[in-house]
Amino acid sequence: MEKTLVICKPDAVERGLVGEIIGRFERKGLVILAGELRLLDTEVLGRHYSEHTEKPFFGDLVAFMSRSAAMLLVVGGPEGTVGVVRTLMGSTDPRQAAPGTIRGDFGLAVTENLVHGSDAVESALREIGIFFPELETRG
Ligand code: RTP
Ligand code: MG
Repeated sequence: MEKTLVICKPDAVERGLVGEIIGRFERKGLVILAGELRLLDTEVLGRHYSEHTEKPFFGDLVAFMSRSAAMLLVVGGPEGTVGVVRTLMGSTDPRQAAPGTIRGDFGLAVTENLVHGSDAVESALREIGIFFPELETRG
């Protein structure tokens, strides 16, 4: 099974959209393999978003992602699942995201864009290892 890390970001939890987001993955046919509501700290976010530490938006991103709890999920399905989740999420900027996608239907701001999904199979393995290390060792 191909697995990916999904985060329903603090804006999604605050707005009561977690059920809607999880429901979209479930209705698509994907499987929820793990889930936990967790307050993320600066240290773990620095590891998760390590490719962005030098970007101008990094400070805003970490402040947003740590301001209240996020819903962490491991989502699984057939080969291609990482890409399927990205398609269901929509473009990074919700103003450009297509209607029918999570960001296209519910967002208007680029930082507060509701959901994270790993961008490649290797990223998914790395990110699942950060947030659910116990799952990774079980395979
Ligand atoms: P994610 O990693 O959260 O799934 O999002 P993504 O791949 O679509 O976008 P990425 O380029 O990895 O950016 C990570 C997150 O940083 C925030 N961001 N803000 N202000 C800005 O210009 C800006 N650009 C990116 C967003 O929350 C984005 O999802
Ligand atoms: Mg990304």
